[in-house]
Amino acid sequence: MQIQELKLLNFRNYERIHISFKNHFNIIYGKNGSGKTNLVEAIYVLALSRSFKQTNDKTLIKNGSDITKVEGIIKNVYQNTYKVIITPEGKKVKIDNNKITKISDYISKINIVLFSPNDLKMIKDTPSIRRKYLNIAISQLNVTYLKELNQYNKLLKTRNVYLKRMYLNGNSLESYLDILTEKLIDVGISIYESRKKYLELVNLFLKNIYRSITNSGNLEVRYISDYDKKSKEELKRLYHKNLSKDMSFGKTNVGIHHDDIEFSLDSYLLKEYGSEGQQKNAVISWKFSEIEIMKQEKKVIPILILDDLFSELDMEKIENIFKLIDKDTQTFITTTEISKVESLLNNCDYKKIYVENGTLKEV
Ligand SMILES: Nc1ncnc2c1ncn2[C@@H]1O[C@H](COP(=O)(O)OP(=O)(O)O)[C@@H](O)[C@H]1O
Ligand SMILES: [Mg+2]
Repeated sequence: MQIQELKLLNFRNYERIHISFKNHFNIIYGKNGSGKTNLVEAIYVLALSRSFKQTNDKTLIKNGSDITKVEGIIKNVYQNTYKVIITPEGKKVKIDNNKITKISDYISKINIVLFSPNDLKMIKDTPSIRRKYLNIAISQLNVTYLKELNQYNKLLKTRNVYLKRMYLNGNSLESYLDILTEKLIDVGISIYESRKKYLELVNLFLKNIYRSITNSGNLEVRYISDYDKKSKEELKRLYHKNLSKDMSFGKTNVGIHHDDIEFSLDSYLLKEYGSEGQQKNAVISWKFSEIEIMKQEKKVIPILILDDLFSELDMEKIENIFKLIDKDTQTFITTTEISKVESLLNNCDYKKIYVENGTLKEV
């Protein structure tokens, strides 16, 4: 899959640009603060309709304007035009000028794998961050997953509201709660199965990828879930056992909304024992596993974005990482150190794009 052209209107520090890309490597270089990350962020927004940064959509709109448009031509089997339009009131997504009303119908179409220095939080931060990464990865593979996730979150909200009501006035019906619980379990099981399968796929690739980058260590992920190895009946009993606790907290204490992923290196928890370098390599290995999974399961080669990788890792690791990129993967690399990148690309077809204060120069 390739992005052939990108048009931006009032996106971050860009006013109006129109640029075409190479099918293999595209190197975006320039000083810090010039707009390199913003450019790859635009490609990400085109694919997933929102940023990889934890920001409000509105921050994507150039200061002083009230609308931003990101438009791109994507070549997969066919060539299609995708568009994301964001205003302070909300956003619209379009494919070939047809409005797509459900975002969940849009975001599995353009497949993208991005590494940014920020992604270290995948190891370091709370379980909710890891679930977010997992959800984005699975949503790109499986359209129904995101729908189920939305459904689950709605049911969870309704159940929690009802728990509070039951706590406050005794005349609420426990049988209604049972109905909500059973629905929650059904959708929860389906999400659990998808996550379990995905993490099994990750483990098929992760270890070898990590080894080829670092030449050492066994990296693994483990899925941690309340739903693990439980039948529907067992889960029902578990919810029942938690009822008085759930009622007094006014929230559901059991479910896939507490799931977590554990990374371990040679059986040690990476979060607690791993060095910063090991954690970065683990995240990169996860990202390259995502690529392999998309190739295997969806027969699609995603677009790869490596934001600031060169300031994050030493050259030896980067050389090993470049060996993992096959020639059919469209790759975007941002860097302040163009010479380092070029030394790795001597035989490849690539395009250089110089960024300065929100303007692009194709070199
Ligand atoms: N909504 C916005 N409107 C205008 N400028 C913005 C907006 N959001 C970010 N910027 C500017 O973009 C620049 C950062 O660009 P970025 O792509 O992160 O730089 P880098 O080249 O270091 O990756 C900063 O100067 C910042 O002020
Ligand atoms: Mg940057």
